[in-house]
Parts: sequence; C-alpha cells; structure tokens
Amino acid sequence: MREHDLYERFESTFTDADTMRRKGKRGKRVADDAEPTRRGRMTEEEKLRVARLREDQLSTADTPEDGDRWSTWGDADQGPKPHPDWLVTELAAVDRELGIVKTGKEADVFLLERALGDRACLLAAKRYRSNDHRMFHRDAGYLEGRRMKKSREMRAIQNRTSFGRNLIAEQWAVAEFAALTQLWQIGAPVPYPVQRSGTELLLEFIGDAEGNAAPRLAQTRPDEDELLDLWRQLVATLMTLAEAGVTHGDLSAYNLMVHEGRLIMIDLPQVVDLVANPRGVEFLDRDVRNITGWFAARGLPPEIGEPSALVATLLEVAGMG
Ligand SMILES: Nc1ncnc2c1ncn2[C@@H]1O[C@H](COP(=O)(O)OP(=O)(O)OP(=O)(O)O)[C@@H](O)[C@H]1O
Ligand SMILES: [Mg+2]
Repeated sequence: MREHDLYERFESTFTDADTMRRKGKRGKRVADDAEPTRRGRMTEEEKLRVARLREDQLSTADTPEDGDRWSTWGDADQGPKPHPDWLVTELAAVDRELGIVKTGKEADVFLLERALGDRACLLAAKRYRSNDHRMFHRDAGYLEGRRMKKSREMRAIQNRTSFGRNLIAEQWAVAEFAALTQLWQIGAPVPYPVQRSGTELLLEFIGDAEGNAAPRLAQTRPDEDELLDLWRQLVATLMTLAEAGVTHGDLSAYNLMVHEGRLIMIDLPQVVDLVANPRGVEFLDRDVRNITGWFAARGLPPEIGEPSALVATLLEVAGMG
C-alpha cells in the first residue's frame, strides 16, 4: 500500500473524534473538548486549551460553506517572489483538507486544496506537533539562543509548558520555512515554500493531480541508468547546498522524493551551516555517508559513489577545502 494514500484509507484507523480533530473540523472539536471543570488557577495546558476553544468558536462563525477555512495566505509569512503561476493567491480562496499524507512524531503532513472558482492548487500542509520532541531536547539550546528574547517565552520553553512546547514547534516551522526559502532562491530542488503561519507550513505538493504523493527515494527500485541519473542529481543538489555553505543535517533516502524522475529534497528544519556550526563538517560527513550508503546498497559502483571524495569536493565548493 502506498504510504501517501488519501485520507479515506486512514479514516478507519482513528476514532471519529480523533479523525475530526485531525481533519481540523472545528465545530466537532468544540463539541468534544469539554471546558475544564476544576476551579481555581488553570494550568498552562488548560489555558492553552481554553484559548484554542475560543479561537475555534470565533472562527466557526466564519467558515466557508464549500471548504474548511478561508485561505490563510493573507495572514501568513509568504514564500519568495515571484510567486509561481500555479499558486492561488487570492484572499477569497478557500482551503479544503483532502486527507493525511503522513503522520509522524514531530509533524503531520496533510493534503490541502486551495481553490477559487475553477482555479485550484494542491498543497502539502506540514504541521509541527507540540508534544515532546526528540529533537526538541537535543537541540533546545540552539533554539533557545536563537530568536527567543522575551523572558516569559524563555521560561515557558525551559519549563516545557504546553505553551512553551507550542513555541518550540513554531520555531521549527520558522526554521524550515527559512531554509526552504533560501534553498528555493538558489535553485535547489525543494518544494516551493508557499507560506508559514504558527506551526503550519504550506508547501508545493510533490505528487500527481489526484493527490498521490510522489514516492520517497527509499521506496523506489531504480534500474542501473535511473540510479546513475538520481546519483548525478543528488551530487548537483549537494553542490548547490555546499555553495550556500549548508548541509541538510538529516539526509537519508526518506528525506528525498522522486517525482517524474526528479529528485526533490524535503524535511529541512535542521539545516546545518557548515561554518557557523562547530559540528558542521561532521554533519556533512554524516549526510554524505548516509545517502551514499543507500546508493551503494542499490548497486551504484563504489568508484562512483565514494563518500570521502564527495565530502572533499563539497568542502572545496563550500570554500573550506
Ligand atoms: N511537499 C510535499 N509534497 C508531498 N508529500 C510530502 C511533502 N512534504 C512531505 N511529504 C510527505 O510527508 C512525509 C513527511 O514529511 P517530512 O519528512 O518533511 O516530515 P517529518 O515529520 O520529518 O517526517 P519523518 O519523521 O517521517 O521524516 C514525507 O516523507 C513525504 O512522504
Ligand atoms: Mg522526514
């Protein structure tokens, strides 16, 4: 079964309430989440839940009949210009959630349609989860130093209140949006970053017009020629990143998609700056070894896919040779 199947196939695996919540049907969520009954001081978690309930109730009053929400384009950080022609940018457009592409521990990816009249585009909505996150702990110092100035926010993050966890999730969304924007602008093959608001990123949907996501590299079984072609695309992409002084930071055959023969790099919140990060070279080395390992296992001749030589070339391109 394809991992990127439409929502309907997954529906049976969730309870109704769970399903509706994941689908973002606001009316239903209001009905499910009872107000906290305990009196007195509310915990941070309760405060956040009540705030969400209010938000939901407000927005239920203004929901389009033929969609789940009005286009959020106007209120979001928008992707780099020129905006691609296929993108529906009219504020009167409507967003409709068509299904789940993939749920994960750190983020869930949904299929979304943004439409106005007969114009429509498919988008991937990547929503960072605000539950405790493997990476959140490991990289907490990095995030805390970065953009958090207000001490209230710092405290919330340090104490891992649900408000704090939500802020951390938002920082990952901000980081991935910035990385995608930079890479898109220098011509790297990444999905066009449409917008970011809160913990949600909207991306160009990589897949067919029916909403089937393209396979990840790990799911493909390329023949000899295809393998060589994919390898060349990989090297070119890594060169483009190296020219910009960065490496992916979590590169694997799961974070590359293959769409109509084109290799597309995804999942970039942790992109690593080779110079600024004291472990930059180590990350580059790890990325290269991970991905060359996959190519070697698929039969790429060792003299072509030799990791040390590639690392040396990339360091040279980055001006660090
Ligand atoms: N722009 C996109 N278009 C289509 N499908 C996408 C897109 N972005 C992500 N996906 C799908 O969603 C999956 C998860 O995306 P991503 O790797 O960015 O998130 P993640 O939370 O890090 O997931 P994981 O932990 O599985 O790596 C991808 O493997 C891919 O199948
Ligand atoms: Mg991933």
